[in-house]
Amino acid sequence: MSDQATADIGLIGLAVMGQNLILNMNDHGFKVCAFNRTVSKVDHFLQNEAKGTQIIGAHSIEELCAKLKRPRKVMLLVKAGSAVDAFIEQLLPHLEQGDIIIDGGNSHFPDTNRRCEELKKKGILYVGSGVSGGEEGARHGPSLMPGGHPDAWPAIKPIFQAIAAKAPDGAPCCDWVGEDGAGHYVKMVHNGIEYGDMQLISEIYHIMREGLGLSDDEMADIFDEWNKEELDSFLIEITRDVLRFKDTDGKPLVEKILDKAGQKGTGKWTGIDSLDRGIPVTLIGEAVYARCLSSLKEERVRASKILKGPSNVQFQGDKKTFIDQLGQALYASKIVSYAQGFMLMRQAATDFGWNLNYAGIALMWRGGCIIRSVFLGQIKEAFNKNPKLENLLFDKFFVDAAAKAQDAWRTVIGSAATLGIPTPALSTALSFYDGLRHERLPANMIQAQRDYFGAHTYERLDKPGEHVHTNWTGSGGNVAASTYNA
Ligand code: 2AM
Repeated sequence: MSDQATADIGLIGLAVMGQNLILNMNDHGFKVCAFNRTVSKVDHFLQNEAKGTQIIGAHSIEELCAKLKRPRKVMLLVKAGSAVDAFIEQLLPHLEQGDIIIDGGNSHFPDTNRRCEELKKKGILYVGSGVSGGEEGARHGPSLMPGGHPDAWPAIKPIFQAIAAKAPDGAPCCDWVGEDGAGHYVKMVHNGIEYGDMQLISEIYHIMREGLGLSDDEMADIFDEWNKEELDSFLIEITRDVLRFKDTDGKPLVEKILDKAGQKGTGKWTGIDSLDRGIPVTLIGEAVYARCLSSLKEERVRASKILKGPSNVQFQGDKKTFIDQLGQALYASKIVSYAQGFMLMRQAATDFGWNLNYAGIALMWRGGCIIRSVFLGQIKEAFNKNPKLENLLFDKFFVDAAAKAQDAWRTVIGSAATLGIPTPALSTALSFYDGLRHERLPANMIQAQRDYFGAHTYERLDKPGEHVHTNWTGSGGNVAASTYNA
């Protein structure tokens, strides 16, 4: 090993996320060597943000690799897509068997799967890590979700767990997620769940504002209360702060914001993946569609003048009781959303042959990231008690919580429907709950229809496994269409 090889890790990509992660690693005693495509940014960083630290820099990939202790660890925080592949190509000639490349960007998991496989053949240990918590998280403690070649974990664990956010009990919000692209997969699901949580809160806000006629300050007080109880979470906390925030004229700023929601696509990825895998992640799907509907502002403006709603649009009952019911509806819907998210991860684990660490995933989301909440502590407990838990909704804590909330949940959705206030996420959560707990669903009718018009065959309850066709009309043939499941 040359004398220059003194750095614990190299980091490529000096945008804010990369810079903040380097400073975070430096705070925890690790020596980091920085590099960037636009090399002038290396010197600028060393002379400014990194001044007075033990951070060093490199002006070429070769120099970067020469400065790393073995096994070399190089973390990429560059734009997802071709930039990642380009850096991998440039790194390869300067790396040896057993060296580690970590992609900490927002890569789509199929890319990470591919890179893991390609690099495994070359003896390089590849890791794709979800990094959540934004710039602030990167600087002071992100949630880190690393997956990929398992042999890389012991080498990167001390750095990753040191810089990660800590849960209230001190546990690092970082653990090994699983093989291949599992880390980026779990990050994708995290983002989908984030879409769901935000949509649920927005629907509650909508009901409070339009149905109950509450002021922004009154709503802020309610969210503040909720934040002290089982709903305690980052998103409830910032909702309270958003509601309280006043524009220069003293009026709530949030009411002046155009009601068109943007999206960068990770919620959509989760929705598409759930359809591909045949797992009903309905709440995230509705959350994505709700943003799409919000974006059709001009069409909604026209529709608002044409389409009739109910004549009564003000809630008539006891407001205080109803507000409590809103909290319960939100909580129960959240349980469903997380249950769906874990169902999706379980299916992906089966499809890809991953050994996913479910309790660890809940712990990783417990702090540092946007969906951090007390609630995730309960999910972690559920998977700790039973690592093979089939469904979150089968855990006693959640069985009881849903049972306790269900009457309130039904009242809220019924009232919102009566008042004409849309609740796509709250409603789909209840529909899913009712669907899951129905031993018998009306899919027998669908099977009959399919066999009627397409001879797709069906199975009889009294003859399981046997696919039969009926000549429903007495005319036409008796020949069944080839059996396929679609
Ligand atoms: P730059 O400073 O040279 O633009 C976030 O944009 C980070 O990704 C930056 O460090 C940026 O480098 C890097 N990046 C973006 N596109 C890139 C590309 N095609 N190749 C290499 N690095 C890229």
